[in-house]
Amino acid sequence: MKVISVVGARPQLVKLAPIAAAFGRTGHRHVIVHTGQHYDADLSDVFFSGLGIPDPDVHLGIGSGSHGVQTGRILAAMDPVLAEEQPDWVLVYGDTNSTLAGAVSAVKQHFRVAHLEAGLRSFNRRMPEEHNRVLTDHAADLLLAPTGEALRHLTNEGLADRTVVTGDVMVDVCLQVRDRVLAGGHPRPELPDGIDPEQPYLLATLHRAENTDDPARLASLVEALAGLPVPVALLAHPRLVARAEAQGLKLAQGALHVGRPVGYAAMVAAVLGSVGVVTDSGGLQKEAYLLGRPCTTLRSETEWLETLDGDWNRLVPDPATLGTQTWVDTATRPAPATPTGTPFGDGRAAERVVETLERWLDGRTG
Ligand code: UD1
Repeated sequence: MKVISVVGARPQLVKLAPIAAAFGRTGHRHVIVHTGQHYDADLSDVFFSGLGIPDPDVHLGIGSGSHGVQTGRILAAMDPVLAEEQPDWVLVYGDTNSTLAGAVSAVKQHFRVAHLEAGLRSFNRRMPEEHNRVLTDHAADLLLAPTGEALRHLTNEGLADRTVVTGDVMVDVCLQVRDRVLAGGHPRPELPDGIDPEQPYLLATLHRAENTDDPARLASLVEALAGLPVPVALLAHPRLVARAEAQGLKLAQGALHVGRPVGYAAMVAAVLGSVGVVTDSGGLQKEAYLLGRPCTTLRSETEWLETLDGDWNRLVPDPATLGTQTWVDTATRPAPATPTGTPFGDGRAAERVVETLERWLDGRTG
């Protein structure tokens, strides 16, 4: 069996790591196509080296652009790659512009498409990711769902007979890296200047268009974070840095200490060293849950509803409307006493993905 993985953005590289490792334990041919949607070393190269992912076989070098330009360029560049490789499966990941373009190029050329992390829904149609995931799910031949909740959404959309629940591959990688970090004696996490890793700190990220691209909203979120009574380590995505600069907004103020994005093991170490996480990232909400740190999510909804159970994750659409004390109490609340469950699977999802691709290629489903 020959499988092409199409990846391009940071969260896809994290998901690719356990998949590439699982393919490495089989005789199947696994071809990695990097679209180049993310090109900064911080967002791309460190994940290949840090997570032991083989170098991409093909690099499309697409780079940034408006949604239409970026998606269109990837789509056009994928066509000859798939025609040349003639894969048995094209595997697309998550919900980025690279996901949608990879899926559309493949289905138009009659290659089988499998969508990893299928069935997530925010029901917020202002999010570019929501369009990408809905369109990809409906185009794909096989939907690899991480959770029962994802299966429920796909069933509601009439897609149950194309769906297999495999568990979430991010559990595979998160737990493996956690064990490595802990076995290494819990190295000091790489944190921005001004954060003492021995003292309580919150870990924060902010990159979603709905938070970064409206100047008033971004200023209000930065003010809320800067006003917290605990130092906040903000690992700033280039999009956040670019938008803040364009708006003349200073990120490093009050409690906020700004650093660059870090590699995966450093991120896991930074979460483990923190007293809690404040974020708008989907992946980090789950990593906080898996690593047992309370999370505050700066959005009005989450695709990962399971993280809300037991108050491990709390949605705060707008800190300014909470009132200062409630916001502080929320962001600095201690870890709940209720233990977390295992709604995202057992850490063997990548193997199940490979087995499912084998089975469905033979025409056996279920
Ligand atoms: C993309 C995904 C989002 C995912 C995120 C993870 C889409 C629609 N969104 O958002 O779902 O959560 O990746 O990070 O695909 N930039 C750089 N260097 C880079 C990449 C981007 O400086 O290597 C800057 C550019 O200013 C660019 C902006 O970030 O215009 C946005 O990048 P883009 O890839 O379009 O979207 P993300 O915000 O990263």
